[in-house]
Amino acid sequence: MRPGDESDPPLFTVTPMFPTFLFVHDHPDPSAMNQQLTAFSYGARAADPEGRSVSGRNSWQSQPLRPHPELQPLMGFVEETIARVRVYLDIDARFSFRITDTWININGKGSYNATHIHGGVYFGGVYYVKTHEGCGHIQFHEPSNIRESHCPPYARITPRNCFVQQCAAKAGRLCIFPAYLPHEVTENTVDDERISIAFNVAGE
Ligand SMILES: [Fe+2]
Repeated sequence: MRPGDESDPPLFTVTPMFPTFLFVHDHPDPSAMNQQLTAFSYGARAADPEGRSVSGRNSWQSQPLRPHPELQPLMGFVEETIARVRVYLDIDARFSFRITDTWININGKGSYNATHIHGGVYFGGVYYVKTHEGCGHIQFHEPSNIRESHCPPYARITPRNCFVQQCAAKAGRLCIFPAYLPHEVTENTVDDERISIAFNVAGE
């Protein structure tokens, strides 16, 4: 057997420990729902041009949304995804989740979202209603500052050693992530607006 043969026994094993999961679920056919949600989002902004400012900079964020028939298809998709997350993470079947604090983000040119976490809940999530090239992406930061102060210099940044990981914004894409995970949204650099709907997942 020559060194490098695939039949060589491995020199060591690698076990990812204490992993942090980002769940990404692309809707199989989001066009009709996104059209409806786009109209709903612009209607909400027209009704409340001030909105509110949480993590958004130069953007419009809605007040927390009340249950609405226009949101039902999206909420169904979110609930279906949470059910898959529940199975993946072996969450106790007796424990109930509820979706709270749903809100709309409309990000025009020059807008971004500052780094933040979603305090006091289990998961945060975002669904992309309207996106385009250059509209900005969500990026997540290593949650442990202990690791950051104990790292050697890396020759190149890869998913094995990075401190920041990005997930591309794409219409029809739903992302669910641990609420403690710091995240931000990079700047929208073009004229088209990006629309997303964010939410929190808490316990009953
Ligand atoms: Fe967020």
